[in-house]
Order: sequence, then structure tokens, then C-alpha cells
Amino acid sequence: MKNLIEKIKTLKEEKNAIVLAHSYQNIEIDEIADFVGDSLYLSKQAEKTNADIIVFAGVYFMAQTAKIISPSKKVLLPNLHAGCLMADMINHEQMVNFKKNYPDTPVVCYINSTAEVKAECDICCTSSNALDIVKSLNTNRVLFVPDANLGRWVEKQLKDVEVITYDGNCPVHHAVKVEDIELARKKYPNAKMLIHPECKPEVSALGDYVGSTSGIIDYVKKSHDKQFVIVTEKGVFDRLKRDYPDREFILIKDDMLCESMKLTTLEEIWHALEYEVNEITLDEDIRLRSYNCIDRMLKVPV
Ligand code: 13P
Ligand code: SF4
Repeated sequence: MKNLIEKIKTLKEEKNAIVLAHSYQNIEIDEIADFVGDSLYLSKQAEKTNADIIVFAGVYFMAQTAKIISPSKKVLLPNLHAGCLMADMINHEQMVNFKKNYPDTPVVCYINSTAEVKAECDICCTSSNALDIVKSLNTNRVLFVPDANLGRWVEKQLKDVEVITYDGNCPVHHAVKVEDIELARKKYPNAKMLIHPECKPEVSALGDYVGSTSGIIDYVKKSHDKQFVIVTEKGVFDRLKRDYPDREFILIKDDMLCESMKLTTLEEIWHALEYEVNEITLDEDIRLRSYNCIDRMLKVPV
């Protein structure tokens, strides 16, 4: 493995490439990653970088977002099977039909979606800025696709905005039940409960903190507490355990695993970079329309 890590590092230098890795990736990928974080943070890195090649250790919509933002860069996805179950729940036709019923209502699109879907929306959001994005629209009604849980959570926080949601979700987070949280509270009464907003809103309502993967990691960084229950994908739990050995972390359920996120290996990263394969390409019209949606998000001050 050491040899492989060295080979990737050398290739990155030779080819002026960077590796962006989501915090749900297999933890050994951090060894060669230039930036590790949540989807908003990684999008911003894709926007800023001077690299010629971006290798995206994440899922398809993330690499596609990097290409939308940075069209002149070569964006590679080491494993093309790394999709997102939530993004697959809405296609272009379903998107068009959904918004047809609500003319003149702004459409907010969670970043976990395809470029074709984003192209039909007014503004994008991620789990870390969804509240600010909806607020920035200054309206009392929005459509929200595809994550019904995040949309309903935003509605609960804002009170005076009606959020009409599409019926999509992340099966990994959607499976967490109120009883799981209640049981963990009983077992670990002093622990802080840190929850990703892709969980059902009734689950999120029980959290001490609700936020994106980077938000959860930052919460631990700033906290003086010693024990935390992690209610998101296992990659976040693995990184927290590695980085804070003096604290205790409990993963809410053993099966908090996004199989797509775990597909990417160091071997595949090396292969993609060495041969410059698995490049993300986009129809320019779709790219431009989906870019407007993302660019509008990136311009909202948070
Ligand atoms: P973040 O915005 O927290 O990175 O979440 C992305 C994701 O896919 C969570 O399931
Ligand atoms: Fe998609 Fe869920 Fe995996 Fe995130 S955890 S990439 S929403 S399937």
C-alpha cells in the first residue's frame, strides 16, 4: 500500500492533479487526498483549484458538480459505479413533471442530484447551507428536490416558509428511527447526539446538533465534551475516532454504510490518474444551465 500511496503522490505532482475526497470515503484515501470534507467544501475546492486534473474520490454527482464548476479541468471518477441512491430517485422527466404543478414557485435542488435535474432548478443547496439558501429566496413557498427529509427539516426551522418536497431520500439515513435515538440517549445519557439532516425530521429533532458531515466534525473539534453519538455514515465516525483518540464515539447503528462511497480504492485512484480514464463529460447546454443553479448557491453569503 505504501508503494501505491507514493505512486499516486508522484503522479499528482507530475500531472498537476489534486484528489478531493468526501468524508464517507474509505479512510486510507485521506493519505493521498488534498482536501477531505463535505460536499459544499469540496465544490468550493473544485472552483478554486489551479490543478489540471481533479480526481474525485466520492460519488458521481460530486464529480459531475466539479465538472460543472470547472469545465476546463479534467475530472476523473475512479469508480464509475459509485452512484448515489438519492440522486437516482429523480430523473429529468420526473423533475419537469413535479414542477409543472407549481408554476412560479422557486425550486431548490439538493446537490445530491444529476446535472439534468439541476438544470431545471433555480438554486442548489447542500446539507450545510440549505437553511440559508431557502432564506435567501425571500419567499413563503419553495419546491425542494430530491430529499424530502432535508426539505421537511428546513421547513421546521423556518416556520413561515412552506417547503413542498419531492419524495426522495437517502436510504442509509432514512433508516434511522426515533427509537434508535431514544435507546442511545438512555445508554449514553451524557453523550452529545450529532445528526445529519438527511435523517427523518423527527429524528433530527432529537439531536444536540444537526448538520453536514463537516459540520459534525467541526462540532466535535470545538466541543469540550468527551462522548458523542454519530448519526451519519460510518466514514465520519472512523475519522473522528482517528483524530480524537481521547474521546469516545458511538455509531448509532452498525450498518450506517453508503456502499457507493466505499467502492473507490487506492488502486482505482492510481489507475484513473495514470491512464486518465473515467473522465466526466457533460453536454454544454446542460452544464451551463446546471452551472447557474450551483453558481447562485455559491454567491449566497453564509
Ligand atoms: P454532506 O453535504 O454532508 O457532504 O452530505 C452529502 C451526502 O451525500 C450525505 O449523505
Ligand atoms: Fe447518496 Fe446516501 Fe450515499 Fe450520501 S450516503 S451518497 S445521500 S446514498
